[in-house]
Amino acid sequence: MIYAANFKTNHTRYTTKNYIQDLQAKLSTKKAEDKVYIFPPLTALDTFEGDFTIGTQNAYPVKNGAFTGEIGLEQLAEFNINTILIGHSERRDILGESQQDVAKKFSFFKEQGFEIIYCIGESLEIREQGINAVMEHLLSQFEGIDTNYENFVVAYEPIWAIGTGRTASVEEITETHNALKKVVNKPLLYGGSVKGQNIEEIARIKNVEGVLVGGASLKTETFLELVLH
Ligand code: PGA
Repeated sequence: MIYAANFKTNHTRYTTKNYIQDLQAKLSTKKAEDKVYIFPPLTALDTFEGDFTIGTQNAYPVKNGAFTGEIGLEQLAEFNINTILIGHSERRDILGESQQDVAKKFSFFKEQGFEIIYCIGESLEIREQGINAVMEHLLSQFEGIDTNYENFVVAYEPIWAIGTGRTASVEEITETHNALKKVVNKPLLYGGSVKGQNIEEIARIKNVEGVLVGGASLKTETFLELVLH
């Protein structure tokens, strides 16, 4: 299983360092085949070493240049970061990234050989129209994306389940992941209110190969409940 912690706009450089030290001290008991990823805020990126991979929540698809407020390849290379989250619904919906922007970012970081955790997900309105509408929407989020890219992981995150405490049901996740697996033969993560109380049933679903976690990843205790479940 893959366990990915997305801190979003939480934690500082100082608290991230403490978090990682604490986490590393307890990761020795994790299963060897399990993989842990941490996506801290940009200001906390650093060359941390341990049984985990540090990735960036975002970057602009350039080496460097005049892009106020963004970071590029040069800033990531300083800390040997070569893992990136692309397409998160918060970047699409709040920061206004279009599918074209997302695809451009994907192509650039693919060229650089980055491991890409690529997020897709539907709104509640679409979910209520049934699985065909959901799949049509999810497939539209692969437009311009090379789904055969070798370092490609997909995170299915229904928007209505992110940060709401409302997890998709086992049936909904099963049906969606089975349908996704037929079109993208890559590791599939589920994201959306994953926590200690639901990790067992989610991890047991056949085509769920990991989880992308926001809220429950913010404290080492609650994240370890998932990783060591
Ligand atoms: P959540 O966030 O676990 O807080 O629902 C998941 C995500 O957005 O990656």
